[in-house]
Amino acid sequence: MSRRPLIAGNWKMNNTISEAVVLAQEISNEMEPDWLDHVDVAVCPPFTDLKPVWTVFDFDHLKVAVGAQNVYWEPSGAYTGEVSIPMLREIGCRYCIVGHSERRELFGETNEDVNRKVAALVAERVNPIRPIVCVGESLAVRDEGTYLEYVAAQVKAAFAGLDANDAADAVVAYEPIWAIGTGRTAAPEQAQEVCAAIRAQLAELFGEECAQGMRVLYGGSMNEGNASLLLAQPDIDGGLIGGASLKAKSFAAIVKEAL
Ligand code: PGA
Repeated sequence: MSRRPLIAGNWKMNNTISEAVVLAQEISNEMEPDWLDHVDVAVCPPFTDLKPVWTVFDFDHLKVAVGAQNVYWEPSGAYTGEVSIPMLREIGCRYCIVGHSERRELFGETNEDVNRKVAALVAERVNPIRPIVCVGESLAVRDEGTYLEYVAAQVKAAFAGLDANDAADAVVAYEPIWAIGTGRTAAPEQAQEVCAAIRAQLAELFGEECAQGMRVLYGGSMNEGNASLLLAQPDIDGGLIGGASLKAKSFAAIVKEAL
């Protein structure tokens, strides 16, 4: 089954509104509209930038989606500092990164938190916000040699209690922690090995047909120089791009590699 590639930019905690509008406009200028007939593209800026960035793409009639970097699973209530799914939906978000390693490491997010967020996101079928579920091992786990089991366990935990209908539109991103922001990309074979193992785990959970339809991305120092070999791997269906998504030309060049 051929899966439509997805290139998503994770801006992390970068760009004020004025900076975000400039970058979104630059991305819009770099992107050929017909590329978006073949590849899905999303940018995930900080919450404060979501609506302004959405507005730039909407004004340009460019089918670049916006996504959030986090969400809370309750729809409303006394949860100071949190942002809910209905809030993201009204902005026009189509994706939401869940369980990024920085959230797990710096903000104590657990597998259970990730599961609750994924479950809440996929529960809504009208104008769905697709979770981009991040998994990936530390250098210590890689060196121990247990990384395939480790990542499979993260996948299993993230989707606990869900069925194939729930999971079908979700995206999984394999982001080895040792490759994030380090300039040290996983070799294409290394990334392929783990992405194939993720798909095998998804098949075990949801059946082969569902797993073959789900997108598995690679993330970790992906740039215009290494994207083509990574994206050529059979189980890599796109990229979650950090640093290189903050430069419009680099981001657009990666999108072009996915065509
Ligand atoms: P990077 O980040 O491309 O800067 O390594 C990827 C990510 O953390 O999503």
